Amino acid sequence: MENILVTGGAGYIGSKICYDLIDKGFEVVIVDNLTTGHKKLINKNCVFYKVNIGDKKSLFKIFKKHNIDKVIHMAASLSVQESMIKPQKYYLNNVYNTKKLLDVCAKFKIKKFVFSSTCAVYGEKKKRVKSNDTPSPSSYYGLTKLLCEKLIETYAKKYNFSYFILRYFNVVGADYKLRVGPINRSGQLFKNLSISILKKNKKINIYGKNYNTKDGTCIRDYIDVNDLSNIHINCLKKILNKKSLVVNCGYGKGHSVLEVINHFENISGKKYTKEFKKPRKGDISEIICSPSKNKYNKIILTNNYNIKDSIKSSLKWEFKIKNMNRLK
Ligand SMILES: NC(=O)c1ccc[n+]([C@@H]2O[C@H](COP(=O)([O-])OP(=O)(O)OC[C@H]3O[C@@H](n4cnc5c(N)ncnc54)[C@H](O)[C@@H]3O)[C@@H](O)[C@H]2O)c1
Repeated sequence: MENILVTGGAGYIGSKICYDLIDKGFEVVIVDNLTTGHKKLINKNCVFYKVNIGDKKSLFKIFKKHNIDKVIHMAASLSVQESMIKPQKYYLNNVYNTKKLLDVCAKFKIKKFVFSSTCAVYGEKKKRVKSNDTPSPSSYYGLTKLLCEKLIETYAKKYNFSYFILRYFNVVGADYKLRVGPINRSGQLFKNLSISILKKNKKINIYGKNYNTKDGTCIRDYIDVNDLSNIHINCLKKILNKKSLVVNCGYGKGHSVLEVINHFENISGKKYTKEFKKPRKGDISEIICSPSKNKYNKIILTNNYNIKDSIKSSLKWEFKIKNMNRLK
């Protein structure tokens, strides 16, 4: 039996990965301080510790008790906008705490470290980015994730473990069985559109209309959370045991904000009232992944879902949690 530690396993993406790991027969230990995570998203078959990843003493006990040798590190603060106002919070939670976690990983001689990074490390320099392009973050959030990547590479070299740095593009959708999905994620386009469709006035704010893009709104590469979860599980394959890779996790296709709204309208059969607002600080105009075609990436990357699947699961999930709240 393989024992895996997942930090941030009570969050949107982490909880989905934990469900899939349990389905595949892994023993899963979650460390999450529930700052943005939710207990109700945690699979009951996981062992859960409400612990801060910066708490080395507790981590030490957990690693020892559960014989941890693989880590999926997802715990982080992740709002681009908030990071521009509170850079210190981002440095402490993302960089300093990752260093503490890595100290414990080194002590227990872990074999594999999978890290949730982001396309925000690339910044505004290029619209279509390859994983070997030079990063140039334009937000503190992106910068702190890049610093984490550097720390991981340094520790991996020194303590001889393999790492997978997964640079996620925009993650959307809910678990295809609707067991978990996004909860408090105001500011996220898919979440806002899903909430708004269930309301009477169906208002949606669009931040910026004069970006240098085909229709003036921001363009993103959206990856479905079900595919992203499989990517993590693929990184744990034995064939990749000695490998270390930096992987762009996106589909290589961009959708503008207006295009996404249009898809939501077509699928739901309802119309939004669109309101244009000022661009948000730290937002970049356009970023699309250029997925690498090397043989290891082919083992890792999956593309079983598309934007319409993600919209459908988002809407079904929102409907489900709205009804659940009504029953309480
Ligand atoms: N959602 C996206 O589109 C996206 C895109 C790129 C990268 N990412 C990365 O994916 C990861 C997960 O993101 P998410 O969307 O699931 O966010 P989330 O906020 O739902 O999950 C983060 C989890 O980490 C926990 N956490 C935060 N700080 C912690 C700490 N110090 N100790 C213990 N637990 C802590 C939170 O309680 C939460 O459960 C993050 O590292 C994020 O940077 C997400």
